[in-house]
Amino acid sequence: MRGRTLLTEPAIELRNLKKSYPVGNDGTIEVVRDVSLRVGARELVSLLGPSGCGKSTILAIVAGLTSPTGGEVRVNGDRVEGPRPTEITIVFQEPNLLPWRRADQNVRYGLELRGVDPKVMNGLVKKYLNLVGLQGFEKYYPSQLSGGMAQRVALARALALETSIVLLDEPFGALDENTRSILGDELLRIKSFTEKTMLFVTHSIEEALHLSDRVLILSARPARVKDDIRINLETPRTVELRWSPEFQEYKVRIWQSLKDELERDVPEPVANR
Ligand SMILES: Nc1ncnc2c1ncn2[C@@H]1O[C@H](COP(=O)(O)OP(=O)(O)OP(=O)(O)O)[C@@H](O)[C@H]1O
Ligand SMILES: [Mg+2]
Repeated sequence: MRGRTLLTEPAIELRNLKKSYPVGNDGTIEVVRDVSLRVGARELVSLLGPSGCGKSTILAIVAGLTSPTGGEVRVNGDRVEGPRPTEITIVFQEPNLLPWRRADQNVRYGLELRGVDPKVMNGLVKKYLNLVGLQGFEKYYPSQLSGGMAQRVALARALALETSIVLLDEPFGALDENTRSILGDELLRIKSFTEKTMLFVTHSIEEALHLSDRVLILSARPARVKDDIRINLETPRTVELRWSPEFQEYKVRIWQSLKDELERDVPEPVANR
């Protein structure tokens, strides 16, 4: 069992978060209604919810890439007012590699932007490409990599920044189930000795249960936290465990909570009067 002592300060805290976007000339769409949640240091928490409910919006707000219309986000106790690149990094569903740069040069990219000393940079690039299992492929261009390998490069590029918080927005969503499962194991292995806090968006109940300390179910848009389920299963979550009755019980419980939200009608954007 992983020890989960919450430090006094959660790594991520959302307090009554609200977000509406303007639509057209005079409309608005309410995306996040009232989301409060805490992620403790070194926890991995998954967000599960219907497509379009506001998961990516929540991650973008936590990363300081967009601002909320109400409430606040705190990271390591400080209010987030804009991007915090030394504390938070984000991994997206698409690897978004620069096609003219080799794998190692893609991992270097974020470090170059940050002005890291070239010798330190070389060490970080090597370390994180090795950690994601890409030794030998450093000089490959993105067009020469498989989808899973490209996503490993994207993961290495994010991890090389050595932030304490990593946000992952369906990072393995475009991969086949087997590759996804293997990358999930690798993510947990890396997490176990890098002590990172992770907020992980997924559509897969199986993946959420494989990886998470807690699974948060979000309602259909506008997002609210409908359920906060602590996963009291041994780690690592081996294939045997994932076939066990207790794992299946969690699956059913999560599906029942999620199903209502998948079926719920969502409000249309409204025109302001
Ligand atoms: N910049 C924007 N302007 C207007 N509306 C937006 C903007 N970004 C997102 N939205 C709307 O907010 C809602 C939530 O989008 P978001 O991308 O957060 O959903 P999601 O839960 O990540 O969905 P998915 O699971 O499909 O990735 C959608 O209705 C979307 O149209
Ligand atoms: Mg999304």
